[in-house]
Amino acid sequence: MDYPPPPYRIKMVEAIELLPRDKREKALKRANYNIFNLKAEEVFIDFLTDSGTGAMSQEQWASLMLGDESYAHARSFERFQKQVQEFTGLRYVIPTHQGRAAENVLFGTLLAERPGSLVVSNQSFDTTVGHILYNKAKPQDIVIEEGLDPQKELPFKGNIDLEKLVEILEDPTKDVSVITLVLTNNAGGGQPVSFENIAATAKIAKKYGIPFFLDIARIVENSYFIQQREKGFSGKSLKEIVKKTCQLADGVWMSAKKDGYVNIGGFIALKDEELANKLKERLILFEGFPTYGGLAGRDLEAIATGLEQAVSDEKIVRHRISQVAYLHARLKERGIPVVNPPGGHAVFIDAKSFLPHIPPEQFPAHALTCALYLEGGIRGVEIGSLMFGREEDGKFIPAPMEFVRLAIPRRVYEKGHFDYVAKVFEKIKEIKHTLTGYRITEEPELLRHFLCKLEPIK
Ligand code: F0G
Repeated sequence: MDYPPPPYRIKMVEAIELLPRDKREKALKRANYNIFNLKAEEVFIDFLTDSGTGAMSQEQWASLMLGDESYAHARSFERFQKQVQEFTGLRYVIPTHQGRAAENVLFGTLLAERPGSLVVSNQSFDTTVGHILYNKAKPQDIVIEEGLDPQKELPFKGNIDLEKLVEILEDPTKDVSVITLVLTNNAGGGQPVSFENIAATAKIAKKYGIPFFLDIARIVENSYFIQQREKGFSGKSLKEIVKKTCQLADGVWMSAKKDGYVNIGGFIALKDEELANKLKERLILFEGFPTYGGLAGRDLEAIATGLEQAVSDEKIVRHRISQVAYLHARLKERGIPVVNPPGGHAVFIDAKSFLPHIPPEQFPAHALTCALYLEGGIRGVEIGSLMFGREEDGKFIPAPMEFVRLAIPRRVYEKGHFDYVAKVFEKIKEIKHTLTGYRITEEPELLRHFLCKLEPIK
């Protein structure tokens, strides 16, 4: 993929600094070897997440000034609602303060009387898994087999396995409460799901009468891949693909902190009025009145503008995806085992193959994450057994993959930063045999990676 010039210029800058090595060592120790505990000031290049970390456009900043902060039916809500309807093609719109708040409202309602039931997905992301478990249901991920193979080159590696889906639905011992698809598949490398696969899932969900929801945090990126790779979509606009995709489902939820190009915000949009009304009851309890849902009027404005721009100027997402591909190529040419092909929002490194001497129960991807910080002040995130592994009857169940994710914030970094990251990887490659695993010394019950403490195994 070529690297087009950025379709923007820079109006404001924020200084960043690489701390000396001894200070980085101290910082990591003080953080109990959990990179979520590092101060942002201690980080040079922050690839922890692409969520809420992007740069807004001047039109979005201008929108903030137009925020109507009325409690009920503010002008900003009316604009937000209209824009979300336009973006998704879905009628009922429920604002939430971010993606997991939407998950709380949605799964807290859909799973209320379904303990033990299954939420079947291509691959639910961490907060979604948390909400499913919190509601006493179980996540079942059935991404296609190739989706779990870091080296396999496929255009739509985020697809759900349709045969397995039918098998589960036909199994009388299993109770499926919800079917979801994550677009793109974040946990599996930011890999897209094809329109055909989403449509087929919708058809199956309808046949079996199971609610079907899409997690559309990165739907613009997913739609870009559909436009570029799927037969019959090359002439279609992103706007059209996004809308058509959403309309396949009963509803969607979105963390607008990703493809909404804002620092905070989210929503649920759906077709069914009765369910929308039920969701609003829970919304009022946890988020706020249905016309602001945990957001300020100015946030609603910024999201509306962000969504509008994300699909109307196609150069934005094209440049973003070429940035990801650029970093991917720089690592690949240095022999770093990256997940292929590059995804939409991040470069993933397969730590299982990079650090084969560290077993999954000692968190090889976490070891690489710590090395990245120590060697270069770079913050990535582990997406492996620290995030998704668990103990069952005293036995360690590893995650299917051990990835380090370098998520690229939108419109924040440029080529020089990516080249620097590639150089740091070169250094780590030379010393990789000296890296050791980690053990957890303290952990909470749910979503342990955010809060746990660790120590290196000497
Ligand atoms: N769904 C997906 C696919 C996500 O990637 C995230 C967040 C959420 C839901 C929850 O949204 O953060 O607004 O509450 N992912 C971030 C990440 C945090 O780093 O990938 P949220």
